[in-house]
Amino acid sequence: MIPQKKRIFSGIQPTGSIHIGNYLGAVQHWVKSQAEFDSIFCIVDLHAITVPQEPGTLKAKIREVTGLLIAAGISPETSVVFVQSQICAHSEMTWILNCFIPMGWMMRMTQFKEKSQKERGMAGVGLFDYPALMAADILLYQTDLVPVGEDQKQHLELTRDVAARFNSIYGDTFKLPEAVIPKTGARIMGLDDPTKKMSKSETNPGHAINLLDSPDEIRAKIMRATTDSLRDIRFDESRPGIYNLLVIYELFTGRSRAEIEASFEGKGYAELKRELAEVITAQLQPLQSRYRELTADPGHIDRLLAEGASKVQPIAEKTLAMVKEKIGLG
Ligand code: TYM
Repeated sequence: MIPQKKRIFSGIQPTGSIHIGNYLGAVQHWVKSQAEFDSIFCIVDLHAITVPQEPGTLKAKIREVTGLLIAAGISPETSVVFVQSQICAHSEMTWILNCFIPMGWMMRMTQFKEKSQKERGMAGVGLFDYPALMAADILLYQTDLVPVGEDQKQHLELTRDVAARFNSIYGDTFKLPEAVIPKTGARIMGLDDPTKKMSKSETNPGHAINLLDSPDEIRAKIMRATTDSLRDIRFDESRPGIYNLLVIYELFTGRSRAEIEASFEGKGYAELKRELAEVITAQLQPLQSRYRELTADPGHIDRLLAEGASKVQPIAEKTLAMVKEKIGLG
C-alpha cells in the first residue's frame, strides 16, 4: 500500500497587502513543501471581518491574494486554494468548538489583547473568537502540519488543546496538528521600526515591502529603513534594524551568513541597502509578471477558487458529520 501523504493546512487573510514577511515566513515554505505533502491553503475572509472591512475591497483582495499565491508558485493542480466563507462547515465547527474552549484559555490569547486595544472598546466578539475559527479551519481537515510564522504559535497551541480536550471526552476524533515555524524568517520586522513585526495592518508607507511593489518603491523603502549608528555589517540580534535587513538578504539569496558577512566586509550600510533592493526586485519581478498574466482574465481566479472549494468540501463535511454524530446533535 502506498503510504498516504501527510496533510498541510495553512491560511492567509485577504486584508492589506501581502508583504515579504508573509512570503518569507510562510508562503515560500508552502511552495517548497507542496510536492511532498497534501496541501490545502485557505483565504480566510471570515477572519478578515473580525475587524471592519469595506465590502468591495475585501472581495478584490480575495482575488488578489489568490493570484499572488499562485504567482508565487502554489500550483492549483498539486495543492488546493479555497475561500473560507465558501465552506459553511468552518462557521459551524467554530460554534461547536466554542462550546469546548474554556474562557480562561481564550483570555490568555495575546493577539486579541493587542488587536482589541487598537479598536478602543469596540472590538467585536468575532475578534475575541478568532482563535476558535482558526482551530476549526485546521481540525476540519485532519491536518498534520501547519506552516506559519511565529505570531501564530499561540493559536496553534490552543488548536491542539481543544482537539485533545474533545478527543478525551468523545474518543479519537481530531488529529493533533503540529506547527511548523521556520528557524529563520519566522518574524520579519518592520522596516520603519525593527522592534515591531512587519504587519499588513500597519499604515506607514515605509513599513513593509509588498509583493506588488515597483522597483522604485522597493528601493525607496529599503534606503529609508531604520538601522543604527554603527558601521560593521554583522548578524547581531542586538542590532535589530541591520539584523532584519541581513535576514531578508539571507533568505532571498540563499547564501550563508559567513559568506554574506565576508562579502560586506569594509562596506557601508548604503551599499548593503542598494544590493538588498536589487536582490528583492530581482526575486519579485517574475512573480509580478506571472501575477499580471494570471489576473488578465478576471474569471480565471474565480474558476480556480470554485474548483478548490469543491475539492475540500467533502473533507470538511465528513469531519463535521462525525463530530455532530459524536456529540448527539441533530
Ligand atoms: P496572516 O494573514 O496574518 O499571515 C499569513 C502568514 O504570514 C505569516 N506572517 C509572518 N511571517 C514572518 N514575519 C512576519 N512579519 C509575518 N507576518 C505574517 C503568518 O504567521 C502567517 O503564517 N491567523 C492567520 C491566518 C489563518 C491560519 C488559519 C493560519 C487563519 N486560519 C489556519 C494557519 C492555519 C493570519 O492572520 O495570518
